Amino acid sequence: MQEKNEATKVPVFDFDPTKVIIYGGGGLSKMIIEAVRVLGCYQIEGIIDDGMKKGTDVIGSPVLGGAEALPELAARGIRMAVNSVGGIGDFQVRLNVFHILAKAGFLCPAIVHPTAHVDPSARLAAGVLVLAQSYVSGNARVGMGTLINNSVVISHDNVIGACVNLSPGTMLAGDVVIDDFAQLGMNVNVNIGVHIGSFARIANGATIKGNVPQGGRVYAGMVWPPRDLPKTRTA
Ligand SMILES: CC(C)(COP(=O)(O)OP(=O)(O)OC[C@H]1O[C@@H](n2cnc3c(N)ncnc32)[C@H](O)[C@@H]1OP(=O)(O)O)[C@@H](O)C(=O)NCCC(=O)NCCS
Repeated sequence: MQEKNEATKVPVFDFDPTKVIIYGGGGLSKMIIEAVRVLGCYQIEGIIDDGMKKGTDVIGSPVLGGAEALPELAARGIRMAVNSVGGIGDFQVRLNVFHILAKAGFLCPAIVHPTAHVDPSARLAAGVLVLAQSYVSGNARVGMGTLINNSVVISHDNVIGACVNLSPGTMLAGDVVIDDFAQLGMNVNVNIGVHIGSFARIANGATIKGNVPQGGRVYAGMVWPPRDLPKTRTA
């Protein structure tokens, strides 16, 4: 038998990049679990949820406990995590989970559902989720932890900040800029070149034709900016 020398020694890594935990066992987690399973390159070790009972399961993946379970998992070489806390209505809860994971030594890969398409020149930061049927177009930039839900279109040259929430059906035209922590509801349409400020909240079905300031609110079904109806002729 051939002796093993330095050149043929197999390196041992201190973590397994194929094993992941899912942080958060709520509604969004079911979509995330399915996306991770269908990717085929990860095994889900289990779910971390501070409000769920250890030993229960979410669509077949076991609940391992809350944040207190992270150090033991990390010690076992599990360091990959997917944040499935959506934070719609309150971006802070999603952001807090990233801080908890980073502090415990976990890494958050970008997850792209196989039916989504990300152009090769687009860039996704850590923790980005691209769910089924969405499209991230040429030269787009998507910041840390942003959630791109189903059937979202991010057009060319968009620059999307960190922990932005894009709900199903939202359409962004080219050259749109959205700053950190903004939240866009379902079927929001954004015109070309528009800038949406950080913390802005845009509700379902709004049409955004002009810039939205930092922290701005646009209500469901509204056209932004609002304008008076054109005067109609009476005679
Ligand atoms: C983004 C989102 C959170 C914004 O919601 P929002 O800030 O409550 O915006 P809305 O325009 O719907 O409502 C704003 C306010 O106007 C009120 N309002 C809305 N329509 C109204 C109407 N027709 N008449 C009277 N009041 C109305 C609401 O009650 C609300 O009042 P509040 O601020 O006192 O709570 C919301 O659109 C949303 O949840 N979208 C879907 C996101 C989602 O589900 N994504 C994941 C799917 S898996």
